[in-house]
Amino acid sequence: MKKIGMFYGSDGGYTEDVCKRLSSYFEDDKVDLFNIYGTSIDTLASYEYLILASSTWHDGHFQDDWNDFIDKLDEIDFSDKTIALLSLGDQDGYGYTFCDALGLFYEKVKAGKVIGKTSTEGYDFEESIAVVDDEFLGLCIDEDIQDDLTDERLKNWYENIKGEFQD
Ligand SMILES: Cc1cc2nc3c(=O)[nH]c(=O)nc-3n(C[C@H](O)[C@H](O)[C@H](O)COP(=O)(O)O)c2cc1C
Repeated sequence: MKKIGMFYGSDGGYTEDVCKRLSSYFEDDKVDLFNIYGTSIDTLASYEYLILASSTWHDGHFQDDWNDFIDKLDEIDFSDKTIALLSLGDQDGYGYTFCDALGLFYEKVKAGKVIGKTSTEGYDFEESIAVVDDEFLGLCIDEDIQDDLTDERLKNWYENIKGEFQD
């Protein structure tokens, strides 16, 4: 069984919590979960299946630990990898940069097979570089004002991506 490497950066623990909840849907031992803080690029590069997760901070940037790490992704050939992208954000407080981390991730990994695009229906925001052709480039979770929708969004996303992570 090929495993999934799930790598998150999280300031207040929300992204970490969401990643733990998402990983619990997969079969036991399918997901290896890493805080990007203290993780090596070799560890990330060793996975063919990847889920990359960052909250969006500072008006459209990665969470700080991802920010420090992100240029190392340029060393990786993503062409043989399958990647799903996740961002936490706050559509009410940061409606012009909602979940922009998805768009930033995408630029780094787009040589690979990026899966798990989602509908923007049910969100209310002004602008986001996470949206291309009317779809999010991954999953947006808003624990600030829509935490009641998180379980359903995670479950739907899991159903959508799990087939792409089978060997
Ligand atoms: C100072 C500050 C800046 C933020 N900037 C953004 C932003 O640009 N876009 C966005 O969608 N959310 C933004 N957020 C919301 C966070 O991404 C959100 O609260 C998230 O749940 C934090 O997750 P974490 O605890 O895992 O870091 C910001 C929050 C704060 C406090």
